[in-house]
Amino acid sequence: MTDDIDERTDRDASLVAPLPRISIQVFTETQDVAHLVQNACQDRRMAKAHVKIQTGGAGAAVEAYREAPTPNVIIIETRLNSVTLLGLLDELAGYCDAGTRVIIIGHVNDVLLYRELLRRGVSDYLIAPLSLLGFIRSISDLFNPESGAKLGRIISVIGTKGGVGSSTIAHNLGYTIATDLDAETVIVDLDLAFGTAGLDFNQDPASGVVEAAADPERLDGNLLDRLLSPCGERLSLLAAPATTDRTFDFGFQQYEQIMDLLRQTVPNIVIDLPHVWTDWSRKVLLASDEIVIVTEPDLANLRNAKNMMDSLSVLRKNDSKPHLVINKVGIAKRPEIAVGEFAKAMDMQPIAVLPYDAQLFGAASNNGQMLIDVQAKHKATEAIPDIMRAVTGRVADPSRAKRAGLGVLQPLLEKLRKRA
Ligand SMILES: Nc1ncnc2c1ncn2[C@@H]1O[C@H](COP(=O)(O)OP(=O)(O)OP(=O)(O)O)[C@@H](O)[C@H]1O
Ligand SMILES: [Mg+2]
Repeated sequence: MTDDIDERTDRDASLVAPLPRISIQVFTETQDVAHLVQNACQDRRMAKAHVKIQTGGAGAAVEAYREAPTPNVIIIETRLNSVTLLGLLDELAGYCDAGTRVIIIGHVNDVLLYRELLRRGVSDYLIAPLSLLGFIRSISDLFNPESGAKLGRIISVIGTKGGVGSSTIAHNLGYTIATDLDAETVIVDLDLAFGTAGLDFNQDPASGVVEAAADPERLDGNLLDRLLSPCGERLSLLAAPATTDRTFDFGFQQYEQIMDLLRQTVPNIVIDLPHVWTDWSRKVLLASDEIVIVTEPDLANLRNAKNMMDSLSVLRKNDSKPHLVINKVGIAKRPEIAVGEFAKAMDMQPIAVLPYDAQLFGAASNNGQMLIDVQAKHKATEAIPDIMRAVTGRVADPSRAKRAGLGVLQPLLEKLRKRA
């Protein structure tokens, strides 16, 4: 399942796996690097790491570990010349516990020094000034064998009120990513009691989410693979039980493990969140690479959308803002806030606006079909690839032409193309 991330886009630059529960000690020499590390500590990806920052560079590091055990990662900023630095690092090596990784932040682009450092077992050499995400990525890469080119993107979709259409949009988005981008995609239904992903794909899958969340000790790639229900060539579903005979009160920890495992094995993960604002749901949102907020054009939705957008933006300073989708526009006789007014009040443009159409959406829901399979040429259907482009940075390869009902014409088109 890992061979689908081919070309990277700008959006991929922000895909950095969160750090595990590790201890990191940083020895800085300059204010700039100290500031950067302090800011990095506020980032969602470093939430679990325990970081201690002190001044003094390589000399202070040697002093610190003469007697004390070493942490998982030591990061040393240095402006020393190569000979002095290498001497201190050799001394430090004598005190380092097996398994401790060392990252050096230097101020000169010196290839010879870089090679010397790697030869001595230093994990990375970064050159100041650093980018915040570059700094976090360097540590993250030490603990995530699949990071860098292979890391999956987690897209969470949530509504600003119940019933605004967030699940419908999440499922259609997942389906479109799988078909238009021909990329492995998993939809995770976290609406455990009422989830509709199974219905929307006309499937009666086993409840994968609950099994995956219930036994975190046992959860690994193989088990997760078995819990996924195939929903198409490239699409799988981690389904909710959608029953009310039991209650489930999983916390973020259980979901986090599912998310971490999925991002190591699947390039695209779409999480369908219920309309709740709890510790776990907020943490799932914070841990996502992209967020889609689905809303309707009325006052309560506007207030909620603004509150959610503000809270999430504050907590995700180094990420792109959540994306806004306005759904069910134009319900007959309903007084609505005009899309322009809504966007002005939110101080942002929606990535997509979908009209209300009871017939199209009703048919799709009742038949367990995706919008494109009910009516390809429709403003609502055509909005889904726009959402895909905003969250993945990619557009469908026109030659694929699986969309818009061209699937059946494909062999004929291929023949014509070959002939041409
Ligand atoms: N643009 C639309 N026009 C008409 N009906 C729509 C539209 N979008 C969604 N619907 C319908 O609205 C209903 C609710 O949609 P959906 O279940 O996706 O909402 P939700 O936000 O996920 O709700 P919940 O709060 O239960 O999670 C469904 O019957 C769906 O078909
Ligand atoms: Mg829903």
